[in-house]
Amino acid sequence: MTHEAGWAHAPGALRGPSWLRPPSDPNDLVPLLWSATATKVEGDLVVGGVSMSDLVAEHASPAYVLDEADFRARAGAFRDAFNDYDVYYAGKAFLCTEVVRWVKDEGLCLDVCSPGELLVALRADFDPARIGYHGNNKTVPELERAVEAGVGRIVLDSFAEIERLAEVAAQAGTTQGVMIRVTAGVEAHTHEYIATAHEDQKFGFSITSGDALEAVRRVLAAPGLDLLGLHSHIGSQIFDSSGFEVAARRVLALHARVSAELSVVMPEMDLGGGFGIAYTTQDDPSEPSRLAAEMTEIVAHECRALQVDPPRLSIEPGRAIVGPAMCTVYTVGTVKPVALDGGAVRTYVSVDGGMSDNIRTALYDADYSCTLAARRSDAPPVLARVVGKHCEAGDIVVRDEFLPGDVEPGDLLAVPGTGAYCRSMASNYNHSLRPPVIAVRDGAARVVVRRETEDDLLATDVGA
Ligand code: LLP
Repeated sequence: MTHEAGWAHAPGALRGPSWLRPPSDPNDLVPLLWSATATKVEGDLVVGGVSMSDLVAEHASPAYVLDEADFRARAGAFRDAFNDYDVYYAGKAFLCTEVVRWVKDEGLCLDVCSPGELLVALRADFDPARIGYHGNNKTVPELERAVEAGVGRIVLDSFAEIERLAEVAAQAGTTQGVMIRVTAGVEAHTHEYIATAHEDQKFGFSITSGDALEAVRRVLAAPGLDLLGLHSHIGSQIFDSSGFEVAARRVLALHARVSAELSVVMPEMDLGGGFGIAYTTQDDPSEPSRLAAEMTEIVAHECRALQVDPPRLSIEPGRAIVGPAMCTVYTVGTVKPVALDGGAVRTYVSVDGGMSDNIRTALYDADYSCTLAARRSDAPPVLARVVGKHCEAGDIVVRDEFLPGDVEPGDLLAVPGTGAYCRSMASNYNHSLRPPVIAVRDGAARVVVRRETEDDLLATDVGA
């Protein structure tokens, strides 16, 4: 808060953030932000060969539009670049049975972190042996279900869970593959990392405190648990490999220590997900091939120094696969010029969705961009704020974007980069209906998650 009347009144607010430059033509797409097949034809946004005005005419708005070819290409790019690794698609970013099938087709493994995600994976007949199961508070019934399903690896997160799973595996008379989630004392941020002496968060076993080594000992002592290796995930939306480097060094040091002191060679190691994507022109993500080369070199270098054989590595990208593959299409309902201190005017453009379909702007201060999706305009651009229709002033979809000054009710707006953590974190706030996910490919649109109905909304209200 930089002004007592709120951030909208802060001096200079209308200039927008420093990275946002007035576009030479606001009709143009910035390719980096869009899925590979997105293009404009006479002002109409076309994705997967489907025009967004046709799509909205048939399916209404708001709608998430998922570019199948783009999703598959990104999944394939990770598979090919990390061909010596196992690549687990992190389903928390976005999951539905259709996407599970694409993940399977593209030869990836799957990371789930809840019984619901496991259910979707199994419903789509995903090979359970290729599933990794996460979570910091898995219950006994959840563990039983995962073991019974034959999940390949369960990532252990607490001493209580080691005990629980050992018991569950013993009861089931099986041996369960497990990894141990460790915290490497690296706190990753966008564009930077801060090394901390001790991680103050709920996940994993701390390496520095000795808990991680103790967890290894306890797992080795449990007959029904097969220790596959250590797991480290340092954060999300990371652009620079130095955080991974520090984490890999510390995790490999523990890996080597286990081999030296306990004479146990763990065959695998997971370095987690978190690879950043471009939401706006300020972001500069790396290609999977570059990430793979950097990570492989970091691990090889450390292993040479520690004189251990490199374990088989795995990673868990979610956002970097599905994030850019989706956009959200909204219809503009109102355009309200709001006079600010000093006579400046901010153009508030209200759309038919908001924080219920994309909470990331409100929750993480995330930046997004958008474009007019169904017509060209030669009107000079104005700095607009795209807001939703919820009963909250913080219900912002795109904080700052230059839109043609004649933006008006009925216009379509499309926001790119909404594939990760938008539908998966969507809510029914204000009893809104969650939008559909419509897969587009080769000129055809296919609903893969349908729009919620009023019946869906009332289904759990026992008095309705
Ligand atoms: N592996 C583990 C153990 C994770 O916890 C996560 C994300 C991933 C992989 C995948 O990370 P990705 O590659 O998608 O960045 N809701 C937040 C992000 C939360 C990420 C949680 N864990 C957001 O909207 O930015």
